[in-house]
Amino acid sequence: MSTQPPGPQDLPVLGNTHRYSRDPFTFIETLTRSYNGLATFTLGSESTYLVTDPTDIERVLVSEASRFRKAQTMRTGSIDDLLGDGLLMSGGEFWRRQRQRAQPAFAPGRVANFGEEIAGYAETMLDGWNEGDVVAIDPAMARITVKVIVSVMFGTELDDPTTETVQNNLEPLGKMFEPKAAQFLLPEWVPTRERIEFERAVDNLEGVLDSLVRQRRGTEDGEMDLLSILLRAQGEVDEVTDELVRDELMTMLLAGHDTTALSLTYTWYLLAQHPEIERRVHDEIDDVLGGEPPTADDVRDLDLTERVIQEAMRLYPPVYTIFREPSEDVRLGGYDVPEGSLVMLPQWGVHRDPRWYDDPETFPFGGGPRHCIGKHLSMLEAQMILATVAQNYRLRLAPEQSAELDFAPSLTMHPSEPIRMEVQRR
Ligand code: HEM
Repeated sequence: MSTQPPGPQDLPVLGNTHRYSRDPFTFIETLTRSYNGLATFTLGSESTYLVTDPTDIERVLVSEASRFRKAQTMRTGSIDDLLGDGLLMSGGEFWRRQRQRAQPAFAPGRVANFGEEIAGYAETMLDGWNEGDVVAIDPAMARITVKVIVSVMFGTELDDPTTETVQNNLEPLGKMFEPKAAQFLLPEWVPTRERIEFERAVDNLEGVLDSLVRQRRGTEDGEMDLLSILLRAQGEVDEVTDELVRDELMTMLLAGHDTTALSLTYTWYLLAQHPEIERRVHDEIDDVLGGEPPTADDVRDLDLTERVIQEAMRLYPPVYTIFREPSEDVRLGGYDVPEGSLVMLPQWGVHRDPRWYDDPETFPFGGGPRHCIGKHLSMLEAQMILATVAQNYRLRLAPEQSAELDFAPSLTMHPSEPIRMEVQRR
């Protein structure tokens, strides 16, 4: 057997950087279908291995997780500026201590207590809706999920202008992470317009976080939100510096709201296109809630609603690929994969592979030790928001809204334009 795994032909210098950068979704999907389980190509100057066999993905994330680390090439200057040593990007023993420290904030019993508050944020949104209104559904969902994450994780209520500041500063961040050929090839210190806007956005978000920390310092006794846990740890553990607190908060703010907002956005989009499924979801919500606002207990009985959200995440995974690098030479799909190479595990691709379509191998929240810490919060949140809205309204694509979606590949998979939907009272 050849020792070099198959893959698309690389161009000199560029490799396949240009094809990936132009449209990573089509590139990933084509490779997933054309090569059986493993394909290799060059991205920037990195030898990249696209792993699409679910058994190998399970090995990388779960059963052989100790042989793989977070991909160091993904830790660009921009990622460092934004997320620093927060929980998503850190590694080794440092990460293990961080994860343990954060865990109590995500305890299922604690998270369940926020059910009613989450529904309350959705109700406030509905107060501003009228029959026939057209709303951009992705920012509408993000407004709620920003408020939820700040309340649940930082123990503070965010006012509307600050929520807007957070939302306004997200776009320049996303733009910075869209793969562009120039980005792989230009040194990072070149001050492009995007970089300047990115730095300004990071500064603005830091301003919001700093003021949250100032408000909370000294009031954290006994509270179990993440910010309180971190502020208490500052008195006891040297490694919890002001900078680490900032990194943890920035990581939670970003990882903790955008993904959930997107999963809801794509759920609304799909429900609008499948009225028969939508009717069954409405029936379930009406049966379980009996006209009352949803509680965290009700969520357990919203079985179809949960499956619909999961199916939306299968088709439109907010995190569209996971990256790792082997910390030693490994074998994947029958080929040698050297230590330090870039390993891509693409949800977008595997979730749409006809080989698994009938029984999809879903991994929307990742797996193994680095699996998503916000998984339960996010599902509770999505179900509460969906049930609160769907109890009252159905959403239809606005007449001017194309049914075909284009995506922007930033840190997460965004619609390239806001999805405009018309509000109809049920
Ligand atoms: C639909 C919603 C969500 C999706 C699809 C999602 C997806 C993911 C995925 C795929 C990973 C693994 C990344 C990797 O292995 O490299 C991850 C990790 C993570 N997620 Fe989520 N997530 C969601 C919601 C949330 C929420 C609500 C929070 C916070 C409250 C959160 C915080 C995090 C953090 C901090 C990590 C890093 C964990 C670690 O490495 O220890 N996520 N998420």
